[in-house]
Amino acid sequence: MNVEFLIHRTSRPLDDGERQKILADPGFGRHFTDHMASAVWTPEAGWHELKVAALEPLHLHPAAAVLHYAQEIFEGLKAFRHDDGSIWLFRPELNARRFARSARRLALPVLDEKHFVDSVKALVSADCAWVPSGDGEKSLYVRPFMFGSEAFLGVRPAARVFYGVIATPAASYFSSGVAGVTLWVSENYTRAAKGGTGAAKCGGNYAASLAAQVEATENGCDQVLYLSGDEQRVLEESGTMNLFLVTADRELVTPGLGTILEGVIRDSVLHLAAEHNLKPVERQLRLDQLRAGCDDGSITEIFAVGTAAVVTPVLHFKGDGYEHTVGDGRPGTTTLAIREHILGLQYGKVPDTRQWLH
Ligand code: COI
Repeated sequence: MNVEFLIHRTSRPLDDGERQKILADPGFGRHFTDHMASAVWTPEAGWHELKVAALEPLHLHPAAAVLHYAQEIFEGLKAFRHDDGSIWLFRPELNARRFARSARRLALPVLDEKHFVDSVKALVSADCAWVPSGDGEKSLYVRPFMFGSEAFLGVRPAARVFYGVIATPAASYFSSGVAGVTLWVSENYTRAAKGGTGAAKCGGNYAASLAAQVEATENGCDQVLYLSGDEQRVLEESGTMNLFLVTADRELVTPGLGTILEGVIRDSVLHLAAEHNLKPVERQLRLDQLRAGCDDGSITEIFAVGTAAVVTPVLHFKGDGYEHTVGDGRPGTTTLAIREHILGLQYGKVPDTRQWLH
């Protein structure tokens, strides 16, 4: 495919003043930019109709595959404005590769890495006025997505697929931000099983997480901590984030890949560990080990990472009949240093020696 995402500018962008008001206090996922990048796939024509045009509601047949069988995947990445006004993406090729893996798992056509990154760049460039300045950790959150749009009720991969990229100016995902979160250890719900879709970023995983999230909220917690479905009860991830633990002997432990999402920030933190005098370790950790480690002080810090949440301290976790505080119940120094490191790279305050910025 040699076609480009050509930009057809909307003749009716949001008024400057209105946009500035939104950028001053964007929240997360509440306001959307003026444009959308899109493409269509069919078995006969492959990817075609590549364009960036005015953001508009989609017209979908009520029998569209996605509405019935959830054949859908998505991604999340951010564009950051540096102090000199330039705009940067953080490791978008990793999102492109994960999107391709998710597509294969959901029997959707693969969009190659170049076109994925081009579509994101084209949208961000059309909507560059929507990228907030970096104060208060603001950014433009970009959401590529793909779904089966064919109108057909038989259960098979759709023969017409829509790809879109939209964007929303964003502040911190959690209102508590760096202040930290409390996790609810779900005994009633699991997120994924071997052979399932846990490693894919598909809407169905998030739909299935909502009941667990309601349970977490009812128990006064911010997010769910998922365990494996087998009797091992090992830590998996927290709904929208990967988990890390810091041990007293300077190990940085995170659950290994398989049924969890392979996060871009997860990978970045593993790469940065040595610079924080930490040994990165991918291994399973059971709930009973987590509880004992927090009680005897061998686990000193826990944090959760994700594109939206960046690096968020986990200060407490609780489950049916128990509650634990991590360390002294305040954000740990290692957690805060890693958070500053990631944000420093993203906002151009720390030299980008690994060339992670585009
Ligand atoms: C992200 O961090 O990009 C996520 O996908 C979380 C999102 C579901 C809010």
